[in-house]
Parts: sequence; structure tokens; C-alpha cells
Amino acid sequence: MSENEAQAESPTSQRKDDHIRLALAQHAPERPRDYDHVRFVHHALAGGSSAAVSLASPAFSWSAPLYVTGMTGGTARAHEINRGIGILGRETGIAVACGSMGIVLREPETAASFTVLREENPDGFVMANTNANVTGAQAARIVGIMGADALQVHINAPQEIAMPEGDRDFTAWRDNIAEIVDAVEVPVIVKEVGAGLSRGSIAVLRDLGVGGVDVAGRGGTDFGAIESARRAGGARSYLASWGQSAVSALVDAAGLEGVGPWGRDAAGIGTRGAGAAGVLGSSAPAPVDERVALLASGGVRHPLDVVRALALGADAVGVAGQFLQVLVTEGPSALVDTVQEWLEEIRDLMALLGAPDIRALRRTDVLLSGPVREFAELRGID
Ligand code: FNR
Repeated sequence: MSENEAQAESPTSQRKDDHIRLALAQHAPERPRDYDHVRFVHHALAGGSSAAVSLASPAFSWSAPLYVTGMTGGTARAHEINRGIGILGRETGIAVACGSMGIVLREPETAASFTVLREENPDGFVMANTNANVTGAQAARIVGIMGADALQVHINAPQEIAMPEGDRDFTAWRDNIAEIVDAVEVPVIVKEVGAGLSRGSIAVLRDLGVGGVDVAGRGGTDFGAIESARRAGGARSYLASWGQSAVSALVDAAGLEGVGPWGRDAAGIGTRGAGAAGVLGSSAPAPVDERVALLASGGVRHPLDVVRALALGADAVGVAGQFLQVLVTEGPSALVDTVQEWLEEIRDLMALLGAPDIRALRRTDVLLSGPVREFAELRGID
């Protein structure tokens, strides 16, 4: 039996191919998103110069505020996807991640389908990925196998509940995350997989000592819907759209002490600008290197969504489904072109908004409407 045949017979690798197939089938960038309810007040004389814009992110010293967040590995198809993502990281310099490497602990022959990402991108910032059920020693092994610069740990209770074979006991996650943080020598970034992280969850993770959080919100790839589609009769489909969008999660997280390397020094919902500076900011912010990076993924369709998330306090913005679609339908070099175009567009949008760097984007006038405003009101944020 060939290695690929062996992989295809494992239930875990079958699930990973199902995820790729169903995520691609679900892809619908025309679907409305909470991002549509984040608008910038246009100030006709505020514009700066694109050439003067710095894209440097306060997260992990990344050169750009854009990254590919964790998706796949473990099958022949996933191997080729990770090869493309590795090439993307090498050619554009953005940070990249693989999908959950738990399978490598059980089926070591699958390792190459993940490490191809590092082989293609020997000098770039690479994130390994695992679930929160692994021990500290296992997490350290995963980081070592990948030669990773950071470890994404996904916490995905809604997805597990939607999966017939999923976990039903999440009580160990906090202790496990604390153990993982102690055991690995690179930053640990805890993420959802498309249901968002609440302010309270982020505060708990901060106190556990993580290096970053990724709100990974609702609105893009929907694992409630994907796992329901994998079940006979589409059972538990009510778990589709569970949780908060990245936009709502960022609004929720505003002003949380110690989160976001540059804090929310100019935050204020709906009324930002020079006059609102400091409304939600901490008066004595923690030193930058002691703060938790605030990352946002979930439902990002285009460069304007990236700029919106950055303006709401994200230190960098992650994309999964949208880039997977380009990679699978058009190939790695088209994805490289797409990301280079996105970086140029982000730069131009920042010039349009008069923001020479990401920190300055936090002082732009942002208007929130519709479901995002309602979320903020219901959460008591004004
Ligand atoms: C994912 N995602 C994911 N996340 C994770 O931490 N570990 C994983 O193994 C996977 N697997 C996976 C497979 C596929 C095919 C996709 C599209 C996504 C979730 C991903 O990191 C992200 O949180 C969500 O997809 C939301 O972002 P988008 O897709 O809306 O940009």
C-alpha cells in the first residue's frame, strides 16, 4: 500500500480532506459579513503618501500585518496545499501556518505533509498548530518537528460538538494550555476556528501566559456547517454561525489590559478620532514585549477587511478560506500575486486614511452599524 493510500484510509486524514472539500464548497465572498458594518468617515484632506506607509506589525515583529492561518496537513492533497503556503511565505515574507499536527503524533508518516511548508520557507515565520488536548511534551515535539517560530493552539468546542467523533469534555483545556505555554520555547497563540473569542476568554488566556490570541471569528469558514454536512442527514446544523465575528470580538476586546502590543490608545466605538483618544485606553500600558498579540482572522475577503480589523485593534489579520480558494483554483504563483496585490492595496488604503503605520490606524474615525453596533450595545460597550 502506498503512503498516500495508507493516509487516505485513516479516519483523521479522511476528515482533513473533507474539511478542504467542504470549506471550498462553502466559500462565498459575496455573503454579507459584519465587516460591512465597519465604515471609515472619509476626511478628504487627511490623505498621506503610500510610499511613506510602514506595514510593520507589532505582532512578533512581522514585516506585514497579514498571515495565513492554520488549515491543513496529513493527506496528499494537504501536502500540496502546504507546499503552496510555504512558497507564499518565502515569496512574500508573510507569516504562515499549517493545520493541526495532532495526526503526526499518531501517524508519524504524515509529518512530511506538514514540514513541506518549512522546507519551502526555511527562513520565514512559520506557525505549527495543535489542538488543546496535547501534553506539554507533545506540543514541544510538534514545534520541533516543524522547526516552528510559534505554536497555534486551537480551541474549537462548537466544532467538536458538531462532529460525531468530536470531544465532549473540554474541562482540561485551561490546564493543558498552561502546561503547553511552560513546555514550548516559542510563543503560543491560542485561536478559535471560526466562532470568535470573547473578552473573558481572552483575559483568561492572557493570564495563562500565552503570547498571542487569534479571535478567529464567525462569518467565513463555518465549521458548524462543515461538520453538520459530514453528518448523516445534516444533523446539528443549528451550530452553523455559532459565536461572534472577528469584528465583534475586536470590539469586545477593546481596552483589555495587556492585550495588543500597542493597546487601544485611541479606542472608542463609533466616536473615534483625535477627541476620543484615550477613551478606552489604559493609562499605564504594559511594556510592548509583555503584552499579548491580538490577532484577528475569520471571514476576511479583501484588503479593506484587513484594514478594518487593524483599525479596530488587531495587530495582524489572518486569512484561511479566501487564500485556500485562490491556491486550489489558480495555483501557488497566483496566490503569491494575490498577496502582493493585497499588501499594496493595504498600503494604499492606509494612505487614503492618513495612517502612516498600524498604530495610526487606531486613531481613524470608525463607524459601527447594524449587528456590530447591536452587539456592542448588548455587551454594554459604548
Ligand atoms: C481550518 N481552520 C483550522 N484551524 C486550526 O487551528 N487548525 C486546523 O487544523 C484548521 N483546519 C482548517 C481547515 C480548513 C480547510 C480551513 C478553511 C480552515 C480554521 C482557520 O484557521 C480559521 O480559523 C477559519 O477558517 C476562519 O478563517 P477564514 O477561513 O474565514 O478566513
